[in-house]
Amino acid sequence: MGERVSFYDYSTAASRFREDVLDGLRRPRKELPPKYFYDAVGSALFDAICALPEYYPTRTETALMQRHAPAMAACIGARSALIEFGSGVSRKSRMLIAATEPAVYVPIDIARETLHSAAASLESAFPRLPIVAICADYSQPFELPVLERFCPRRRTVFFPGSTIGNFHPDEAVAFLAQAARLAGAGGGLLIGVDLRKDKAALEAAYDDPQGVTAAFNLNLLARINRELGADFDLRAFRHRALYLEAHGRIEMHLDSRRDQSVLLGTERIEFRAGESIHTENSYKYAVQEFQALAACAGFRPRQCWVDGAGLFSIHYMEC
Ligand code: AVI
Repeated sequence: MGERVSFYDYSTAASRFREDVLDGLRRPRKELPPKYFYDAVGSALFDAICALPEYYPTRTETALMQRHAPAMAACIGARSALIEFGSGVSRKSRMLIAATEPAVYVPIDIARETLHSAAASLESAFPRLPIVAICADYSQPFELPVLERFCPRRRTVFFPGSTIGNFHPDEAVAFLAQAARLAGAGGGLLIGVDLRKDKAALEAAYDDPQGVTAAFNLNLLARINRELGADFDLRAFRHRALYLEAHGRIEMHLDSRRDQSVLLGTERIEFRAGESIHTENSYKYAVQEFQALAACAGFRPRQCWVDGAGLFSIHYMEC
């Protein structure tokens, strides 16, 4: 990487993976944090999910961004500090960078190698763009390095993909409050949010006939086997996705097909037939519902773009 890229590693050396897994599996209702889906195998499976015909969010959000890039750029303005949470390969931010010419781009992601290669590729694609890449778990509080040396006119947080839906609403407010703090007074937030819709379309998006989402869900157990030396038998668990309309959320589970016990280091975890591990929530919000949630974190709605079929929304908000 060249001199226009600075790299900050805030990822904790001692990962909490083992503690979090044991804590989740010892609960009366077993659960695992969805952030652990994304090892190299899980990230590749997630990319495959994004290309599935049933999984509408990625292509719908991308089309919305392509169509409304000039209006989004007008909201953000030129020479802002563009801060992206969960930037991955920075695919969606390229459009915004081209349209707004930010004073600095700040991608934040826990996947160090992906962040490195994304920064290197952006550096060659945008020859005048300074990049401050931060390796961090953005679900935890952290401080940004000083950005004033780039003389940004304002700060804009970009959080695409409806990943906000993977937080419980209380956690979503706490997360948005941290985004508001990083953006500062007068700063902006451009965020992708999946909309409420009918149960059949949602359940198909999270339980595709090709079994890619099932493989993504089961990879969490495979990862625990690989990294923590557990002995989960993947054939003994079944992927299940259901939409709870009253809560506005998809839940993903792994159901035990039989009574069984699993060894995790020296710990033995017992499963009854039919008992589940709750692995993910994916909340869906009507436009006003999300605006009310973000208002609790200090954001005022400015503009919202929705596709013609009413599948997905992108909000621009200010604090
Ligand atoms: C990353 N996140 C927004 C995805 C979602 O739709 O909640 C994760 C996912 N889980 C299953 N399919 C996709």
